[in-house]
Amino acid sequence: DNYKQEMTAFEATTAEAAEAFRIKYLGTKGIVKAVMGEIKNVPNDQKKAFGQILNEFKQFAEARYEVLKESTVNGQPSTVNSIDISLPGTPVAIGTRHPLSIVRNQIVSIFKRLGFAVAEGPEIEDDWHNFGAMNLPEDHPARDMQDTFYINQHPAWLLRTHTSSVQARVMEAQRPPIRVICPGRVYRNETISARAHCFFHQIEGLYIDENVSFADLKQTLYFFVQEMFGKEVKVRFRPSYFPFTEPSAEMDISCLICGGSGCTVCKHTGWVEILGSGMVHPKVLQNFDIDPEKYTGFAFGMGVERVCQLKYRINDLRLYSQNDVRFLRQFTGAV
Ligand code: PHE
Repeated sequence: DNYKQEMTAFEATTAEAAEAFRIKYLGTKGIVKAVMGEIKNVPNDQKKAFGQILNEFKQFAEARYEVLKESTVNGQPSTVNSIDISLPGTPVAIGTRHPLSIVRNQIVSIFKRLGFAVAEGPEIEDDWHNFGAMNLPEDHPARDMQDTFYINQHPAWLLRTHTSSVQARVMEAQRPPIRVICPGRVYRNETISARAHCFFHQIEGLYIDENVSFADLKQTLYFFVQEMFGKEVKVRFRPSYFPFTEPSAEMDISCLICGGSGCTVCKHTGWVEILGSGMVHPKVLQNFDIDPEKYTGFAFGMGVERVCQLKYRINDLRLYSQNDVRFLRQFTGAV
């Protein structure tokens, strides 16, 4: 039995190796012959049984030799018994990360380094978390700013129009200090074109603590754009209006294409808009029993598509969701 195991383990990739097997086991001075010779030492009454075993052993060796010879036909290395490790492997097709994921991850990692936690919430929202809590009561004209997809009117269920709804859920569940960013998909009923889509992605941020000032807002966002676009980028703030912040400001960055001297991308102004921001309105804090006398905060919101557009010069919003591999493959290797 030991010899049988040895023979089974014997691998031959060449005709010479198969021949070596023949000589070792089946040759005139081979192992099979030697074992056969032992029969003269076996008592007569056991000769028959022993002879059967020997015959079977010989046949086994012969059969193994045939297999080894077969597998080395024409002196070719056997494909049955060996693997050619020098052959190139079968290519594995792997995809690419979507540009929106790449940019989203970059934005998230920059704010994480500043101590912001990530919060997520549902895309189907109620009126309170999307609007009411954000200081947009039922008849507020600013609701028209965000064309809303309603699922149900009474009670109102809708597709969230901004991830401020997630900030509402965080303020509901946590006490200051609060420092979160809320990435996610949002929906607005707009006609699809190169410049508008019925859904897009936002990252909103919220920071509430004692003594949070507008200077903190400016420095945080300035740090963000320098990390995202480079140290040479300049920022400017323009007064704006959001119902949930007071004062409110929109932030522009110096045009990345022309550096501020004027081109078609920045419509010859030298600046491009990147996000909305402001100090959290006292009414919003009160809605969540956060004392506006003790705590202040800032909030901001940006579109991931917009940041991606500036970073990769993508001029048509529809490209993000058409899944054209010629577009997607351009981001091969980017993580
Ligand atoms: N929620 C605003 C929007 O969707 C963005 C924003 C967030 C502006 C926070 C100011 C402060 O447009």
